[in-house]
Amino acid sequence: MRVLLAGGAGYIGAHVAVALIESGHEVVLLDDLSNTSAVAAERVSVITGAPVPLVVGDASVDAVVEAAFDEHGPFDAIVHLAAYKAVGESLQKPLDYYANNLDTTFALLRTGIARGIRSFLFSSTGTVYSDPADLPFTEESTTSIDLSNAYSKSKRMNEVVLADVARVNPELDVTVLRYFNPVGAHESGLIGEDPSGIPNNLMPFVQRVAVGALEEIGIFGDDYDTPDGTGLRDYIHVVDLAVGHVKALEQGAPGYDVFNLGTGRPVSVRELIASFEKAVGRELPSRVLPRRPGDVAATYCDPAKAQRKLGWTAERTIDDASRDAWNWQSKNPQGFQTA
Ligand code: WQD
Repeated sequence: MRVLLAGGAGYIGAHVAVALIESGHEVVLLDDLSNTSAVAAERVSVITGAPVPLVVGDASVDAVVEAAFDEHGPFDAIVHLAAYKAVGESLQKPLDYYANNLDTTFALLRTGIARGIRSFLFSSTGTVYSDPADLPFTEESTTSIDLSNAYSKSKRMNEVVLADVARVNPELDVTVLRYFNPVGAHESGLIGEDPSGIPNNLMPFVQRVAVGALEEIGIFGDDYDTPDGTGLRDYIHVVDLAVGHVKALEQGAPGYDVFNLGTGRPVSVRELIASFEKAVGRELPSRVLPRRPGDVAATYCDPAKAQRKLGWTAERTIDDASRDAWNWQSKNPQGFQTA
């Protein structure tokens, strides 16, 4: 298939691009480079040996999407990963998050449907599940629009829009993928997570401490009702996540469907740190801090539906993710700026 990958130069996007190309598909990236570097697109080409056109532009603008179709189309599918995704930032800038995360979807749908795409794949999040009593979350678990932050709400709003658009476009395959916590990097160490500024998320923060860019890891609370008191999350290797996108496109069928992409194996903050210390071969400095507002004790999924309907399951462990993340970070101490 020929795929337009919106947000395709990002952390998840670059890995999805590699997985699509390695499965025989053609990829064009559309990215505004607001949270990544054009170097990522070049690295995808180095890894795969395939041409990887990059259109630099704002996917929320119809004219930009139309130009991408004019220049590089036609496309069989759009994979939409073009969103702002920092929970904390979304609390400070809700309008930016609602505008960007919804307008990109509207613009991509308008042009994609007008130009006859067959599939629309959407990057959503496991943070749309709202009732901890449902753990481990399945695709039927309770969701809510009344979530703790604008990022998660914008993703749930997108899902509502997509279900209605699918209903009036019965021939279109609309697939929503609810990610849990993506971590790790491609085994080559050429692409990986490179957030701008101080990382909000745990794994990139640990990576920066390991490479000496940050002093010590702050553990946000060790008094949760979990085995070791620290938060539990479902960390999924980004390569497994990327393969999940390929399976969803290849196994897709007309209509709206939703899949959890996670491992189903909860890992605690202390377990992740221990895993990374194994990869680095030394202890990393850490200190227990107060809980972070908005954090839940535990979130992880039941990934059985993706296994059943897509023939997909996560194969890599947290130790694989730590090894690959350390390989990326140690080879690129300043991320893509190292290049
Ligand atoms: C993980 C655990 C923290 C940082 C993120 C994104 C969200 C979604 C899922 C895409 C928690 C603890 C963290 C630190 C810590 N992504 N922690 N010290 O909050 O589960 O959600 O992934 O949909 O958008 O925000 O991930 O990595 O921030 O936190 O102790 O410096 O690590 O309390 O238990 P989170 P996270």
